Amino acid sequence: MSSPSSTLITGIGELVTNDAAPGAFAAVTDAALVIAEGTVAWTGPAARAPVAADAVVDAAGRAVLPGFTDSHAHLVFAGERSAEFAARMAGRPYRAGGILVTVEATRAAPDAVLRANLRRLAAEMLRQGTTTFECKSGYGLTVPDEARGLALAAEITPEVTYLGAHVVPPEFAADPAGYVDLVCGPMLDACAPSARWVDVFCEDGAFGADEAAAVLAAGRAAGLLARVHANQLGPGPGVRVAAEAGAASADHCTFLTDADVDALVSTPVVATLLPGAEFGTRQPFPDARRLLDAGATVALASDCNPGSSFTSSMPFCIALAVREMRMTTEEAVWSATAGGARALRRTDIGHLGVGARADLIMLDAPSHAYLAYRPGVPQVAAVWQAGRLVAGSP
Ligand code: NIG
Ligand code: FE
Repeated sequence: MSSPSSTLITGIGELVTNDAAPGAFAAVTDAALVIAEGTVAWTGPAARAPVAADAVVDAAGRAVLPGFTDSHAHLVFAGERSAEFAARMAGRPYRAGGILVTVEATRAAPDAVLRANLRRLAAEMLRQGTTTFECKSGYGLTVPDEARGLALAAEITPEVTYLGAHVVPPEFAADPAGYVDLVCGPMLDACAPSARWVDVFCEDGAFGADEAAAVLAAGRAAGLLARVHANQLGPGPGVRVAAEAGAASADHCTFLTDADVDALVSTPVVATLLPGAEFGTRQPFPDARRLLDAGATVALASDCNPGSSFTSSMPFCIALAVREMRMTTEEAVWSATAGGARALRRTDIGHLGVGARADLIMLDAPSHAYLAYRPGVPQVAAVWQAGRLVAGSP
């Protein structure tokens, strides 16, 4: 698709920039934006926009936002678990053990099937406005299966996460310590070259505090940055482990003690909330208001995976966060853009300040609020990545 070296988008009803106070939503009405060489070169009132550009797009009063940053997704897998979802909706509780159903299907799948599934989901995300996504392994759980999952993910995103510590696979059921040794040793050696991050599911039924800390320390020694699945299914040590490991993010944060909230406020750990998982498991939603009022940095992400949260839609997560988690529309949009960037320790995305990567979306709506106001309605009209129109049409 077209990529003129400079593009002026004018007539923007609301331009969400997130470029004012750190950590805060910011927007300009009746605005324009100039993209040059893949980055944001200028933003401001349309009346003061520079006139010279290779191409001009008239937004006709519609909203322009930073592309969504989905900082938590599990996209390398085969098979599906719709029957498990239906059973949960009929009253059966969610258990971490369902992960092993996907592990079996993933191990049996040829590379071509995994690659096609992954690319289909990535394309689905892009159409819905996600311009950066993180992708975890965690459904292979052998050295070659984890390594191939990460290599496939690295083909399409730089935000690749080694999640060998997702659950203990059946062949190690009698020797969980042996599995942790594998994750921290030969599996890590095979996976680290393809990954930027290391993650661990710290939860009853998965890995305890000491095991999680060992996995994160080994990952760090191999040059990986830490993130943690924490406090998803009940209270537990996940957030504390994340804070002690200097993790970029503690994800889920559904069951938090006051001490957990304090840890999230007093350290740079981002609290990444995944309302799709609460929707898909019929759990209580995390208390975003409590975290925000205490001063924590909150991100929103999809947790896209075939078990707990089979949605790739950041607009859906925003709508849930506003309706069910008492986030304002501004907070939810900030968390789905700039918050996700924080959770990935990225300063080039999640905002449209001058110099940012020109990753942006145009809505078929006049303001960001429509993302929650019109839930379930496709409203992303066009998507630009590094200044290039990659989906839809303005
Ligand atoms: O983030 N919590 C652990 N992992 C996923 C669920 C994976 C699955 O059920 O397949 C999650 O919700
Ligand atoms: Fe997850």
